[in-house]
Amino acid sequence: MLVNSKEILFDAKKNHYAVPHFNINNLEWAKYILEEMEVLKKPVILGVSEGASNYMGGWNVVSNLVKGLIKDLNITIPVCLHVDHGTSLETCRKAIDAGFTSVMIDASKKPLEENIEITKQVVEYAKPKGVTVEAEVGHIGGSEDQISSSSKNARIEDCIQLVEETGIDSLAPALGSVHGLYHGEPNLDFKTMKELSETLEIPLVLHGGTGIPDEQIKEAIHCGINKININTELQIAWHEAVKDFIKNNDSYDPRKVIGSGEVAIKEKVREKAEMFMNR
Ligand code: 13P
Repeated sequence: MLVNSKEILFDAKKNHYAVPHFNINNLEWAKYILEEMEVLKKPVILGVSEGASNYMGGWNVVSNLVKGLIKDLNITIPVCLHVDHGTSLETCRKAIDAGFTSVMIDASKKPLEENIEITKQVVEYAKPKGVTVEAEVGHIGGSEDQISSSSKNARIEDCIQLVEETGIDSLAPALGSVHGLYHGEPNLDFKTMKELSETLEIPLVLHGGTGIPDEQIKEAIHCGINKININTELQIAWHEAVKDFIKNNDSYDPRKVIGSGEVAIKEKVREKAEMFMNR
């Protein structure tokens, strides 16, 4: 069943756990994640970046692909289909019109007032359609979709202002995490995280989940994080398995080559879901 993020994240906030957001890149990624989460009987958020959407052919392709998998695989868990780091109102509109149930508008590189203005426009379009909106304050740096940028931590007063003025459903405050691999230990601002989660009624999102040690993930959930985004870690797990397969096999059947990463992806999905959701 496709649902918006509110339906799953509010339970997470109430019961102090985090829902995994896994980025998808193709049919296989979506299929493996859905199958494994169905075994676990836990809700999941499938994140799609603009780059991944372009790669797969567009928002309609992705939306129909996920809906088709839910139907044909008899997936019964709640599934939220979410735009990851939408860069414009236009992008979010297209995804919503294609059937996405949740969007992130990321205007975090712009000055706060502009970020608020763009986010407001997205909420105005999304809300009447029952689509939820996530926004980012400060800037989460690192490397994503082959684009690198540097980080800027969020200020509490900016977060409160954006949430109050826009009516978003979840907030991704930049508090020290980065996309992609970390150089050294992550340095998360747990104090601000806790203060924000106690001040705001909406759930908080942690981007850049790859490479954060388990203890810090648990601390982040303890401090009020209710959605954790994972992308790079699944890609690395898949790549290791496929490299190994190619080294030891002559098969040129793409189903075998791509599919040789299935177990690795599913194991990672299970590991993360159990860590984030077991209370
Ligand atoms: P990682 O690639 O670091 O796991 O981050 C994913 C993410 O935050 C997607 O928005």
